Amino acid sequence: MEILEKFEGLKVREIVRKNPKAAGIFSDMGIDYCCGGNVLFTEVCDSKGLDSQKVWQTLVEVSSERNVESNLDFDSFDLDFLADYIFNVHHQYLYRNLPEIRFFVDKVFNKHGERFENLPELYELYNALEADLIGHLPKEENILFPFIKQMLQDIRTNSPAKSPFFGTVNNPIHVMLNEHDEAGTILHRMREITNNYTAAEGACNSHLVMIDKLKDLDKDLIQHIHLENNILFPKVINLEEKYLAQ
Ligand SMILES: [Fe+2]
Ligand SMILES: [Fe+2]
Repeated sequence: MEILEKFEGLKVREIVRKNPKAAGIFSDMGIDYCCGGNVLFTEVCDSKGLDSQKVWQTLVEVSSERNVESNLDFDSFDLDFLADYIFNVHHQYLYRNLPEIRFFVDKVFNKHGERFENLPELYELYNALEADLIGHLPKEENILFPFIKQMLQDIRTNSPAKSPFFGTVNNPIHVMLNEHDEAGTILHRMREITNNYTAAEGACNSHLVMIDKLKDLDKDLIQHIHLENNILFPKVINLEEKYLAQ
């Protein structure tokens, strides 16, 4: 993400063009960066009684946010803690962001769907991904994750194993893995048709914001699926063996 050195002389729409992350901050502050974005950043701040220096500082901070996740040792997490982490970080990310992404996907498709040849397919791909995720998350939250917590609690308290209605964890995990694969295939195709999330020449600011949000969604989802497929699920399958043997 490009961080601009200074804001004097920059127009609102130029800032969002260089740094689509600014869109969220401008929206929160009631600054129109799309159709009304052809005005100087400093002028808009003045007209809204905002300190342009402070707004700029917020923009810089958001643009340079580091990925804290890379410093976490997920492999050492207790499995109930890891399930909570996934829920609080990655599921909540989706609940927060899917409606916003949906807004931009609809807007850009409705306005420019005929002008850019990848937009109709991108629209369909996003519909499929959103439907996949909305059906997927509650299964983990209501079936799989509570069972993981139950197993750990029983192991810690030396309580007898309880058999779940789904037989063995292999069954829900099998379903989850298939749904992850579906999401992975969709993401792969999205990357392909957007040239790895590069906005087409002549794209408007909403289009740029949509592409940037899809790129973030991709990144978050890849990490989310990695934590489940590669750490949580294999360990849960092992844990169940220990649980049943106790
Ligand atoms: Fe998940
Ligand atoms: Fe999942």
